[in-house]
Amino acid sequence: MVPAYAQQALSAAGSLTADPVNLQGLLEKVEEIPFRPLADAHLIDPTRPSEAPSEEFRTLRTRLNHMQSLSPIHSIVITSPSPAEGKSFTAVNLALAQSHLAGNLTLLADFDFRRPIVHSLFQVDRGPGATDFLLGRAKLHEIIKRVSGTNLYIMPAGEAVLNPLELLNLREVKSMIDRLPTLFNWVIFDTPPLLFAADANLLSTMCHGTLLVVRIGTTTIDSVTRAMQSLCENNVLGTSVNGARRGELYSRYTYYHSYYYSTEAKAREEGELQAAPEGEAGGEKPPEV
Ligand SMILES: Nc1ncnc2c1ncn2[C@@H]1O[C@H](COP(=O)(O)OP(=O)(O)OP(=O)(O)O)[C@@H](O)[C@H]1O
Ligand SMILES: [Mg+2]
Repeated sequence: MVPAYAQQALSAAGSLTADPVNLQGLLEKVEEIPFRPLADAHLIDPTRPSEAPSEEFRTLRTRLNHMQSLSPIHSIVITSPSPAEGKSFTAVNLALAQSHLAGNLTLLADFDFRRPIVHSLFQVDRGPGATDFLLGRAKLHEIIKRVSGTNLYIMPAGEAVLNPLELLNLREVKSMIDRLPTLFNWVIFDTPPLLFAADANLLSTMCHGTLLVVRIGTTTIDSVTRAMQSLCENNVLGTSVNGARRGELYSRYTYYHSYYYSTEAKAREEGELQAAPEGEAGGEKPPEV
């Protein structure tokens, strides 16, 4: 059965020739991969929901899902002004958080053809991926992998191309981006930095929304201003602040969190922390959020 959101997207898409049966068939053909992330990938862990940054990504998920309930937002570009501000970190964890909701099919697409990382984080091959499909070297079902037993699907970037921007200008890109929401409730695009390449800018004109990541201590006000100007503030859904430590911001919220955090979960975690060898969970600082 095709989910309600897919039905809506299909009828909205009008000109698409694909029918629900074929689309459903496509997902059944995709290869499954085990969930085997890199050890230092900083991915959220659903079995530790109270740990940073799980809760923060659930909050981001809730806000986006609320926006989606108000208007049909299914494709979102994750970008930031400059390199290393946490675009991929945000894209991957947001995709994971979305996929933890029952029936919420989520695709994480690596459209950073310059410095792709999704394949490394999930320890799969870089190709075939998006570039291979766009160049006619692979079919859509061949470039999408399902993380076994979950609602998460990933699309690696594909083989390196000489001119990513030229590739993104192909008609096929728009057509692919329009089609993907007929299969997935959320399509999350990891992209290059705005002030270093026009890729994210172009993609944002084809997607329903854009999330701007900024990193505390790194991103400057000037770069945010220039990034927003470059996006023409068109479809910017909001800004995600990366790199704040719990307690530094929203101290009342942090109190709320610790106050309501169940004693059972606390006890479980304390047990785990005691059992952990020195230098692991017990000795390390919590990841930044
Ligand atoms: N909140 C965080 N806590 C811990 N580590 C983080 C956090 N945000 C980012 N990192 C780490 O910082 C590094 C850079 O992050 P990431 O790759 O997400 O940045 P990026 O903006 O995608 O970079 P690029 O411009 O190269 O694509 C990675 O090693 C990532 O794991
Ligand atoms: Mg990145």
